[in-house]
Amino acid sequence: MAKQISITARGFDAAPSPTIVVFVGEDRTLPGAAAALKPVGERIGQLLQLHKFKGGAKAAAVLVGHSELPCERLVIVGLGKAEDRSKIDWTTAGGVAAGKLAGGAASVICALGESPLTPAEAADVALGMRLRAYSFDKYKTKKKDKAEEEEPAAEVTLHAADAAALKKVLKARTAIAEGVDLARELVNEPPNVLNPESFAKRAKALADVGVDVEVLGEKELKKIGMRALLGVGQGSHNESQVVIMRWNGAKDAKAQPVAFIGKGVTFDTGGISIKPAGGMEDMKGDMAGAACVTGLMHALAARKAKVNAIGVIGLVENMPDGKAQRPGDIVTSLSGQTIEIINTDAEGRLVLADVLWHVQATYKPQFMIDLATLTGAILVALGQERAGLFSNNDDLATRLTAAGDSTGERVWRMPLDPAYDKIIDSKFADVKNSGGRYAGSITAAQFLQRFVNDCPWAHLDVAGTAMGANSSDTNHSWGPGWGVRLLDRLVADHYEDR
Ligand code: BES
Ligand code: MN
Ligand code: ZN
Repeated sequence: MAKQISITARGFDAAPSPTIVVFVGEDRTLPGAAAALKPVGERIGQLLQLHKFKGGAKAAAVLVGHSELPCERLVIVGLGKAEDRSKIDWTTAGGVAAGKLAGGAASVICALGESPLTPAEAADVALGMRLRAYSFDKYKTKKKDKAEEEEPAAEVTLHAADAAALKKVLKARTAIAEGVDLARELVNEPPNVLNPESFAKRAKALADVGVDVEVLGEKELKKIGMRALLGVGQGSHNESQVVIMRWNGAKDAKAQPVAFIGKGVTFDTGGISIKPAGGMEDMKGDMAGAACVTGLMHALAARKAKVNAIGVIGLVENMPDGKAQRPGDIVTSLSGQTIEIINTDAEGRLVLADVLWHVQATYKPQFMIDLATLTGAILVALGQERAGLFSNNDDLATRLTAAGDSTGERVWRMPLDPAYDKIIDSKFADVKNSGGRYAGSITAAQFLQRFVNDCPWAHLDVAGTAMGANSSDTNHSWGPGWGVRLLDRLVADHYEDR
């Protein structure tokens, strides 16, 4: 994995590093806790005026080499209107700060005006810095010119009011950051390296943080009866796999688990209904749902979340081949329902149909949430800003929406409605796997719902958010690790023992 920054917590009075980071709102009041800066407060004010720095959110000014300042570099990060403290996005502020560090050691003054940051706020700053530092360059044999490359600080010290309390929260945030980075890494890996078996191997490594991992190969899947899933992989030389990850962190080992399910198509050519060549390389990211579930399981286990959680990922490769599934084929899913294959490129729903059915029957979870890069149509509807949320349960939908608003991984609820069902009724089987262009994301969700009984369920269509990401203040990676923070927050806010 990419270079890491080490982040530690110390008191306000600890000696600062050569680079100091402070946060200011639009009032441009320097943090009172930055004692070293107090005597030069007025001068800093003048310099900020010269920089025309107004303290707007995500703005930053860097004062370098001023002999009157007690540091080599002073990085000032704007927070915008800071009156409503709850609205400040500290993770983004941390990312902005990290973008202005040029290697070496940096000290972050965790205060706003006269008020110290809470441990949670300071830990969010650290999370943003870590997320910004990730880059995927393991296959580049020629490293970029240092000047071109952004260099994250190697060592960051957070100067906080209560360093001991911050250290505890930092540990949990580090677990989450590791989970996000794991999801990113899986999405970024090329499809010749990451196939169903090698993905399963990486999931196995979660045993190191205490996750129980079981891998089912084609022989077992046949025995269980996952024929819809197996049909997708039957044109590939890589064996299909289903991985079941279990984290038992609740006081009661028998407490009903929460369940997360991921689409893991390690490469989607479309199969016999083959995709056009342009941009097909992006279909290495068609396992982003499974990557998120894996990253989430790492995060929950590494921070010892007090919850019983299961993550189940369906791993297949969708290839054209003499043995591949055909349009017109009819397969019998694990549920017993028959599916007519209209388009072999509508493969994700076939994988999920069997996994959803298996999870609900075997584990009787409190809820199931599936994540899938399921439809191009969700990009048409929502672009890359929000994931599509479909749910049979209003409480679950409300909680997911709130977790999205607070982490910035936002979702938008779309309709489930039996009126759409006729579009996927089949002439020859119980259901068909494609209903054509109209309402493409909804008919896909409607298809999935036929494989869910009365278990509270939510489906997140992440085709627009979980791969092909643009750079942001907290992410420079094609695979953004989308959803790990969202679902970790959902669990933390509602499903852990108190
Ligand atoms: N993996 C794709 C969806 C996708 C598109 C993900 C763009 C990420 C970016 C999925 O398997 C697919 O091919 N869906 C088809 C469904 C259609 C054949 C009913 C689609 O969206 O066109
Ligand atoms: Mn497809
Ligand atoms: Zn796909």
